Amino acid sequence: MKKEELQALLQDMTLEEKVGQMIQIRANMLTEGGIVTGPTNHVSLSEKELALTGSILGKIGAEELAKVQKEQMEKQPHHIPMLFMYDVINGLETIFPIPLAQGCTFSPELVEEASAVSARESAAAGLHVTFSPMVDLVRDARWGRVMESNGEDTYLNCQMAKAYVRGYQGQLGELSKNDKVAACLKHFAAYGYPEGGREYDNVEISERSLRQDFLPAYEATIKENCKLAMTSFNTINRVPASGNKWLMREVLRKEMGFEGVLISDFSAVEELVIHGIAEDARAAAKLAIEAGVDIDMVSSAYIEHLADLIRSGEVEERLVDEAVMRILNLKNDLGLFENPFKYIDESGEQEVILCKEHRDAARRMAEASFVLLKNEEILPLVKTEKKQVAYIGPYAETHALHGTWSFPQDENRSVSIRQGIEKKKITNVVFAQGCYMLKAGDATRLGKNDVYEQEQNEKWMTEAVEVARHSEKVVLCLGEANHQSGECGSRVNLQIPEIQMELFRRVRQVNSNIITVLFCGRPLDTTEISKLSRALLVVWMPGTEGGSAIANVLYGDVAPQGKLSMSFPRHAGQEPIYYNHLMTGRPDIVGGRVGFKHGYIDESCYPLYPFGYGLSYTTFEYSPVKLSSGIVSKEDTIRASVTLKNVGSCRATETVQLYIRDVAASVARPVKELKGFQKITLEPEQSIEVAFDITEEMLRFYDIDMNYRSESGKFQVFIGGHSDTQNVAEFVLEV
Ligand code: BGC
Repeated sequence: MKKEELQALLQDMTLEEKVGQMIQIRANMLTEGGIVTGPTNHVSLSEKELALTGSILGKIGAEELAKVQKEQMEKQPHHIPMLFMYDVINGLETIFPIPLAQGCTFSPELVEEASAVSARESAAAGLHVTFSPMVDLVRDARWGRVMESNGEDTYLNCQMAKAYVRGYQGQLGELSKNDKVAACLKHFAAYGYPEGGREYDNVEISERSLRQDFLPAYEATIKENCKLAMTSFNTINRVPASGNKWLMREVLRKEMGFEGVLISDFSAVEELVIHGIAEDARAAAKLAIEAGVDIDMVSSAYIEHLADLIRSGEVEERLVDEAVMRILNLKNDLGLFENPFKYIDESGEQEVILCKEHRDAARRMAEASFVLLKNEEILPLVKTEKKQVAYIGPYAETHALHGTWSFPQDENRSVSIRQGIEKKKITNVVFAQGCYMLKAGDATRLGKNDVYEQEQNEKWMTEAVEVARHSEKVVLCLGEANHQSGECGSRVNLQIPEIQMELFRRVRQVNSNIITVLFCGRPLDTTEISKLSRALLVVWMPGTEGGSAIANVLYGDVAPQGKLSMSFPRHAGQEPIYYNHLMTGRPDIVGGRVGFKHGYIDESCYPLYPFGYGLSYTTFEYSPVKLSSGIVSKEDTIRASVTLKNVGSCRATETVQLYIRDVAASVARPVKELKGFQKITLEPEQSIEVAFDITEEMLRFYDIDMNYRSESGKFQVFIGGHSDTQNVAEFVLEV
């Protein structure tokens, strides 16, 4: 539709129709007479209101959605097509590793490919919008939703954020293609920084840190033309985001130039009442529309009060018109006015979902996301091991490898570790369950399928110990249950379930050749596991092809290459812990801890494994950092380089990382910050020069007066394989 036609449509709509466009209901409200369960169970809609709603959440399937589209459009006076939205976070049916794991690939290319696959499957299943990417910066592993993030670093977060949007939406103007969906950046803003890592908690943050560290990734998605944004649940400096006019109108729209649709998070508009900034739902609706929220996701506020607020003159109708125009624009950009059923293709759905090409992409991504944290010459395993290798633990045979934000129709279509090994025709392996995943007390929130029977558990443990005793090596497949992370999955204890720790200790007593394959949705406290294992491979929640990828990496068909997107603590009490912290006046040096120094008296203040860390089956050697000049000016760039050499015996990929430290500035600056990375694959004995251009722009920050600029002075450049690298050179900036 042309702009003028959309304008004419808007002008012809009644107030009720317009408000209808601004309401999102859950799919089951259509079939169950408008009643939903959960936090919004009091919301009920009349037949007429249901008929006028503009979008639904939470339904997939070409056939079903075609039916809904047809029925709803018939009921609407202007036959406006509906929008179908869904949380496709790391895949619809072909499930990729969780986003935190995708961050460990340091590969925007792989992320773009994965999102393009997700878009193709989602579009074939009738969807128009995915509530992804989540680009909230995170620093505290206690928060359950770190699994949905790109990790603790702003630069990496920005690169990944852009890649997601490109994958879902394609290049500019490609959104109306049949295999693309609109992306939704979330959760604006700073939802990933709740106090104490507690879900939905308050965010108290300086404007400097907000702008410097947290906002850039949201902005990066907007520059990539991301079509929707979602408000966050949290307060930000005492004002809840969904009613925060400064945040939405000034920062998001004016400063960042966001022109798309702003949707509230689930019932967040009504929650303004509970937050205590609105007396009732009517006041909440007024705050939200004034803040610029275009769609109220499943709360009663807009449904019940918006039209009346306009009629009484308390809210200007102009605000509703602007919001509806943005929604109509989105429908238009998606091509829905031309063909409301264009996505809906049942045979296409059968063809693309879980096709070989998609599975291959999921496997490649999983292989690249695994992080080898320790290896005392025990990995890779040999396919024809003479002596028996035992695979023990609740993850050895399960298909539940997806993470909480993936809802595959049939989990069994995912490859378990056992299937991955069997496909390779490896001989001389045995499998044992070892123990249940969890028992009550291991987790604050037990899943509905979690069973635990003490007698059975003891039987499994005893069997596993016997198997371990008679094996040469043991691969322990352990970890958090997938529902221990994700939304509402905050934890104070960052260890694997106690029952699995018991299995670990009992097996370790009879066999010291332990390789631990660790599943998790967050960095865990692996201090004991790490000390007592000969190898530790973190595989996160690896998705549909998890088992194939794990087998490929364990047996050396592919060398591990992942680098941590988030630091692993020594102890939960260290959280929040992240590499790019500020220096204190009394820094502790590693292993120091004497006198009045920064840190704790009972634990180091450094992580067990820092951001960017990850081993390979080969060794990479870095030469000292070389700079093309000792001085950089506003116009000049300098080139920082190293020679990287593969001095081991297998072909492998290294992520070369560039960090910069501003030695003295008008405000304290981080000890170092990631400014670039490159993935390099080398054959044994091969070496290559890896170079980065450093420009003045890369040295900018919010100065003492909140100007975003660089300041003259000394800088240090680090190039290495992780954030703790000490391979450094120095230059001076003259501006
Ligand atoms: C989550 C969002 C999600 C929404 C819709 C909320 O609880 O915070 O991330 O997109 O539900 O499912």
